[in-house]
Amino acid sequence: MLCEVQEGTRIGSKIWRPAVSQIMTHLQGCHRCRIVLIGVTDSGKSTFATYLSNILSTSGFKVTFIDADIGQNDVGPPGSIAVARPTTLFTDLRDLPPHRMTYVGYISAGVTFKPILDSLSRVLSAVHEEDRANSVIVVNTDGFVLSRGLYYKLELLRLIKPHLTVTFGPALYEVFSRLYEGQVIEAQIPEGVGKNHADRLIRRMIQYNRFLASSRPTTINLRDKRLKFLGYDFDEIIQITDLGEVKKGKMNLMPSYEPIALIDRDITTVVISMGALRDMFVGLGDEITVHGFGLVSKVYGTTLRVKTPVKGAFSTVYMGIIRLSGGSAEANAHLGFL
Ligand SMILES: Nc1ncnc2c1ncn2[C@@H]1O[C@H](COP(=O)(O)OP(=O)(O)OP(=O)(O)O)[C@@H](O)[C@H]1O
Ligand SMILES: [Mg+2]
Repeated sequence: MLCEVQEGTRIGSKIWRPAVSQIMTHLQGCHRCRIVLIGVTDSGKSTFATYLSNILSTSGFKVTFIDADIGQNDVGPPGSIAVARPTTLFTDLRDLPPHRMTYVGYISAGVTFKPILDSLSRVLSAVHEEDRANSVIVVNTDGFVLSRGLYYKLELLRLIKPHLTVTFGPALYEVFSRLYEGQVIEAQIPEGVGKNHADRLIRRMIQYNRFLASSRPTTINLRDKRLKFLGYDFDEIIQITDLGEVKKGKMNLMPSYEPIALIDRDITTVVISMGALRDMFVGLGDEITVHGFGLVSKVYGTTLRVKTPVKGAFSTVYMGIIRLSGGSAEANAHLGFL
């Protein structure tokens, strides 16, 4: 369908020419430049990341794109932090093969943002170790920016220490250029666009299913694996019968069918119910990266039946609160604090 774009309408890539031109100027003399995109939901972050990456590639830069949007991740599934290194021009971030992934296992930064910052810090170190000449690192973030999200985004900026922060719309530009000490520029927000709640859920389901395609059943005993919950390490899972038996510093498995996970503030102790493990969307990998994902179909104590496309060996099971009930609908476990 052909659409006529009215003169002066704030849509199309033209609205971002001033921001991209400022970025290109800034890149001169900037080694391994880090650029962070900050905007509320539907402000155009992913589309801008696509546009900017293509321009950077055609200008001779090597782009490393870090998708730290755990809610609407384009490169990895929801709940992940994923890295891509585009080698050709592309039209949709979801077409990029992930170069590296990790998994925090929940989709809303409003719940707690410490796990995202800690996992992102490890991803940044890994990306920095893979130094490349003429590289630019572009980090996309989630839309949790207002009220407590503002504090989270400032913490995130202090972690990444970007050379440039791109904020979407005048209001965020105003706030971040006052509150953040680094250089901030403004990109326009496209008008009249947006995804409703159902669109967002569908996009997430497509992303989960993309990473579950060609799954086969396998059996995993959690006692034989390293465990991570929200990205934090647990060397052991023990079975308890009630909360009075909780052992500090361990992953405690409760027989309840209610999907519940309880953590302490430092995430050193976890209580997880069998109901939370059932239908859990898990990551399978090694200590540093996730090789792929799986869906728990049955739970027998600490032994799980998991459908996964991952074929090779893996030492670590990455867990969280994302559950795909009935193999399809997203139904998170309740996360509470001990
Ligand atoms: N410059 C533009 N012109 C026209 N439409 C656009 C433009 N930028 C984005 N859109 C459309 O607006 C919607 C939101 O854009 P996008 O998904 O890039 O935003 P986002 O900030 O990444 O959202 P989310 O918070 O869900 O990650 C999409 O449907 C996209 O196709
Ligand atoms: Mg997006």
